[in-house]
Amino acid sequence: MRFISRAIQPEVLEASRRFPAVVLTGPRRTGKTTLLRRLFPGATYILLEDPDIQARARSDPRALLEELRLPVVFDEIQNVPDLFAYVRTRIDREPRKMGQWLFTGSQEAPLMQGVSESMAGRAAILPLLPFSLVETGGVSLLHGGYPEVVARPASRGLWFSSYIQTYLERDVRAVTNIRDLATFRRFLALVASRHGQILNKTDLAAPLGVSVPTVSDWLHVLEITGQIILVPPYFENFGKRLIKSPKVYLGDSGLACYLLGIATQAELDRSPFLGPLFEGHVAAEILKSQINQGRRKELYHFRDQQGLEVDFLFPGAQGGLWMVECKASKTVHPSMAGPLGSLRRSMGDRAPARSSVVHRASTTAPPTRALAPGIEALDVRAFVDELNRRPPKAGVRRPRNGK
Ligand SMILES: Nc1ncnc2c1ncn2[C@@H]1O[C@H](COP(=O)(O)OP(=O)(O)OP(=O)(O)O)[C@@H](O)[C@H]1O
Ligand SMILES: [Mg+2]
Repeated sequence: MRFISRAIQPEVLEASRRFPAVVLTGPRRTGKTTLLRRLFPGATYILLEDPDIQARARSDPRALLEELRLPVVFDEIQNVPDLFAYVRTRIDREPRKMGQWLFTGSQEAPLMQGVSESMAGRAAILPLLPFSLVETGGVSLLHGGYPEVVARPASRGLWFSSYIQTYLERDVRAVTNIRDLATFRRFLALVASRHGQILNKTDLAAPLGVSVPTVSDWLHVLEITGQIILVPPYFENFGKRLIKSPKVYLGDSGLACYLLGIATQAELDRSPFLGPLFEGHVAAEILKSQINQGRRKELYHFRDQQGLEVDFLFPGAQGGLWMVECKASKTVHPSMAGPLGSLRRSMGDRAPARSSVVHRASTTAPPTRALAPGIEALDVRAFVDELNRRPPKAGVRRPRNGK
């Protein structure tokens, strides 16, 4: 497949100019190796998956590092996290040489521990997620954004089944001490069936016959390996009693469809999960835009005890809060602006700068239009373009004429 540019590229390049080391992490198969090799074609490449190289890196790490021609890409550093300590010594000898040490790693938690302990202040850590709609139009609700599924959508069933197996067997087992993989797999399917709901751990534990602490551990594994999104409630207190639990989504809508047994577009269109799947897709796009712009992940949901509900609130790239209501339908009605209008009124002068109903794109409807005072309708493509529009850089002034 032709290389598709990644939205995070400018961030990776910028990090390599400002830090001696850059670590690319994230879920498996998102394109980490491909991206580093593409951006640093002249770098020495060492795959730490290779048992011979692993043995060398463990038995004589100093010799391995001495012989290297820099810059170097160490692929799959989670296999030999101890290497970070030796790399740190090398960095401290030449602390001003930037972008010499490039890493990929897949399991976020143990890797992060190693990095923050040994590489504090020396490494930039960037997560790479599956493709966003802004990177390729091949991303869809049914297929999700993993590069290999986007390239070969027809074999998605086979791809996801082997992804889950590899993922279960390697990453999950490495992160926690899971003995019963069959139950964990049923757990994954159960999480998919709760896609878009308020997280209720008891409700997940009971059907599997496991304890609530076990469910907490498993959810934690899914979260740190980038497989689920937990959206906490908006915390601002303005006189309403709020629901305190997060909402849960699978991070990739393609994986969610696979786990829910949705195999075709027609099945998806009829599915009771269409609404929540669309909502999760929008959530993932919001988070991807934040990460790709080097911002903090920040996304909330709103639901009060009187039943007022707004899907998402988040800080927009242009500053100010943005609130969004998701509608899987391709047709929008002014009534769909109702909850946004109610929340705006009850927030008074703290109301978000921007309020949008985000709906599925259709070839016949306009991508954007006003729906009610202060509330617009945007189709998902227009929404994603807006999300990824970078704010003008502060401090950069246009030269004045004649001076
Ligand atoms: N930007 C891209 N454009 C086109 N295809 C891509 C892109 N990135 C990745 N791919 C394809 O996706 C597949 C997985 O990519 P890659 O091996 O780089 O992912 P990874 O995150 O390093 O995976 P792993 O977690 O297994 O190490 C490869 O077949 C690659 O060709
Ligand atoms: Mg790789």
